[in-house]
Amino acid sequence: MTFQEPIHDVAQLAMVEIFTPKYEESLNFFETFLGMYKQAEDGKSAYLRAYEDRYHHSMKLTRSDKAGVGVISWRAMSPQALERRVAAIAASGQPGRWVEGHKGYGRAYEFTTPDGHVNHLFWDVEYFKPTEAQRSRLLSRAQKRPLSGVPVRRLDHVNIMVSDVTKNATFMQETLGFQKRENVVFGGKDELACWLSVSPLVHEIAMTKDNSGHGNRLHHLAFWYGSQGQMLDIADLLKEYGLHIEAGPAKHGISQGYFIYFYEPGGNRIELFGDCGYLIFDPEWKTVTWDETNFWSEGGVWIGGDLPQDFFVYGTPIVEAAAEAARAAEVEPAE
Ligand SMILES: [Fe+2]
Repeated sequence: MTFQEPIHDVAQLAMVEIFTPKYEESLNFFETFLGMYKQAEDGKSAYLRAYEDRYHHSMKLTRSDKAGVGVISWRAMSPQALERRVAAIAASGQPGRWVEGHKGYGRAYEFTTPDGHVNHLFWDVEYFKPTEAQRSRLLSRAQKRPLSGVPVRRLDHVNIMVSDVTKNATFMQETLGFQKRENVVFGGKDELACWLSVSPLVHEIAMTKDNSGHGNRLHHLAFWYGSQGQMLDIADLLKEYGLHIEAGPAKHGISQGYFIYFYEPGGNRIELFGDCGYLIFDPEWKTVTWDETNFWSEGGVWIGGDLPQDFFVYGTPIVEAAAEAARAAEVEPAE
């Protein structure tokens, strides 16, 4: 394949909205267990951030009758980069429009992926400004480390369930400049998952094939926790208070991240991802492909036991096909 000059127009994953049918319980969980700060709240949503997130918020928690994912928001590298990417999205034929009035950032381009996930791309952003009492003595830290729970440090990535991994990944690669760092392909043709990034991180977004056939769902939202001792501490807390730990603490082969997966009270799967995995600086990076001969033994989990069947089935919103598959695998999905 000929070398294609990388596009560096999208800077980072900035914010993700998740829906919860148990708003108060979810909000309490993110504040109390994960040490996130509530920056604002209106009748429908709370705006939260981790103590090293630099913008107004990194997660919007919205009341809904079902769990799931709302808007996934990206910050462009510059105003010019924003215009270039909007032109590319428009040329792709995917629907999009300019929107205004979203808390935390200015004018944004709203577009949908082929599967229907709603994304925003923006430049103008509202930075978090600490009060004197909130100001950290560590000058590189946006805010004092909180005293509650085992606090997460920043938003890390989102993993979405899609009906067609290759189609949706290609859209993100061609219009936004994402690079496919790793993927899972069975039988030489069936792409089951991939990990995409615009930075040296292995991923800011991942895609998992939705075996229910539904698509347009959330697999998980991930926060970076820092060091492994903190992951063991949060595992202890979750167990103590009866929250469902799905997998981990353990280490993925793919991404090399140390992880734990659990369900927040609203039913969304949350990951705490740490130790940074590995970083990529090679501009000629070739996608690392795992297959049926090595995914189960090394790729999915490198250290720490197997991923349970529900990891490959459960997502939000819960759909009947997925619930049936989970029941067949004798797994209890969260409400
Ligand atoms: Fe993840």
